[in-house]
Amino acid sequence: MDVDDLVVVGAGVAGLTAALNAAERGMSVTVVAGARDGSVAGGTSTAYAQGGMAAVATDRGDSLDAHVADTLAAGAGHCDPVAVRSILADGPAAIAELVARGVAFDHDPAGGLARTREGGHGVRRIVHAGGDATGAHLHAALWSAVRHDARIAVRRGLIRDIPVVDGRAVGVIDDDGRFVPARSVVLATGGLGALWTATTNPPSSVGSGIALALRAGATVGDLEFVQFHPTMLFTPGADGRCLLITEALRGEGARLVDADGTSVTAGVHPLGDLAPRDVVASAAHHAMVATGAPCVFLDARHVPDLVRRFPTVTAGVRAAGFDPVRELIPVVPGAHYHCGGVLTDLRARTDVPGLLAAGEVARTGLHGANRLASNSLTEAVVMGLRAAETASEDRTVSARPCVGPTLPDRGIGPSAQVIRAAMTAGAGVDRDALGLRNALDAVVSGGTADTADMALVARAVVTAALARTDSVGCHRRSDGISQGDSDRVITARLDRDTGDLLVSPTVPAGDPVAAV
Ligand code: SIN
Repeated sequence: MDVDDLVVVGAGVAGLTAALNAAERGMSVTVVAGARDGSVAGGTSTAYAQGGMAAVATDRGDSLDAHVADTLAAGAGHCDPVAVRSILADGPAAIAELVARGVAFDHDPAGGLARTREGGHGVRRIVHAGGDATGAHLHAALWSAVRHDARIAVRRGLIRDIPVVDGRAVGVIDDDGRFVPARSVVLATGGLGALWTATTNPPSSVGSGIALALRAGATVGDLEFVQFHPTMLFTPGADGRCLLITEALRGEGARLVDADGTSVTAGVHPLGDLAPRDVVASAAHHAMVATGAPCVFLDARHVPDLVRRFPTVTAGVRAAGFDPVRELIPVVPGAHYHCGGVLTDLRARTDVPGLLAAGEVARTGLHGANRLASNSLTEAVVMGLRAAETASEDRTVSARPCVGPTLPDRGIGPSAQVIRAAMTAGAGVDRDALGLRNALDAVVSGGTADTADMALVARAVVTAALARTDSVGCHRRSDGISQGDSDRVITARLDRDTGDLLVSPTVPAGDPVAAV
């Protein structure tokens, strides 16, 4: 039996970083790139990331302590401080890794890396590429490196299951039911924004990694913390990915105003337009409710050098019929990033031996209840590197055949449209028990086996949101009654026999390793 040392599920920045580093350690690697639209970039959120990567710039008066403090504050008291310090300490090395792979970050006139600011950051520490095309530049460089590395095989398609034999993940089963054996599997499948009707994510971001992990017996946590980006281009009738309007615009002076021209964030937070993302998204949501308008507006007209510095936003907004140099940009909060995911330790291990997770699909404890802007690409590179190291430690594990039935009853779900409508109506920026229960009823009604994974993930998110009865970070319960559970991680596992989700709000937020 031919056995890969490592199968990487997903081809975004975390997965490609893991694959390249594993191959350089002499491992045989397969990357499964599951783009639904046929293109690799289209299957990963990485390619759409705009703002950049946050990492300490010691030459600019920044410090690890300051980056940690900003991350903890944005995370609303729910981060794991050990994970925060550990991952952010490796931020500068993550940038060096990408530079070595040919990513051309933007430079300032003095020849250093150009640094911008986004919500929740006390200083300018975010590096970027192509102005506001950071993710596209990263993805192009890493994908090209993978395609030119003979030690890495690339398969197109989706993964259906991760068989577990004697308690260990032994490979993956593809969409055609074929078993691909591996000593280690890294889930790097990204997030779940496409469970909502309008999102900044591509259509493939439906939480497939969370479904795979649950079905493999792994524990997930913090699923209720879905981050809504405050400034997604308002697109009437939107169904799918909408243009992100990067927060870096506000870092360079753009302002968010309501339909009456009043600042959306004045008096809401001392950092105003550069408050953490959960605060700004909520303020925008409430401004829309108060004015009755379907959107708020970003005024970027006075941002210096707007067209050159923000080419992606400028082109996208112009394509939608607005000129950001002369006009306000209509924006709404949109489903953007999942702060929760598959519980991992700081070596990318889940609680299923042989199964690792890195990037947005994983919950390391870095993001807490609300991710600090531009910490995600940094985490993806750092944890992608660590996943490769961890997998290399397991190279001597004997390969095991996939024996017996591995696919539990997968269940059924309603149509994707019904799931997205239910999540949009009941699990948005503001939630309450009634709306969440309605969403739950809708996503458990069923249908078809095609959407069983989407329905499972939607059910897990809504169940966690119902279990957290108070508001914290980007989980805002308008009917919130504090039960003092903000410092607890709500975890869930799937009972493979009954299909029930076993939810357990018992793990201290500062102790994710113990959770694993
Ligand atoms: C943005 O460019 O505003 C998004 C950055 C992020 O999600 O961290």
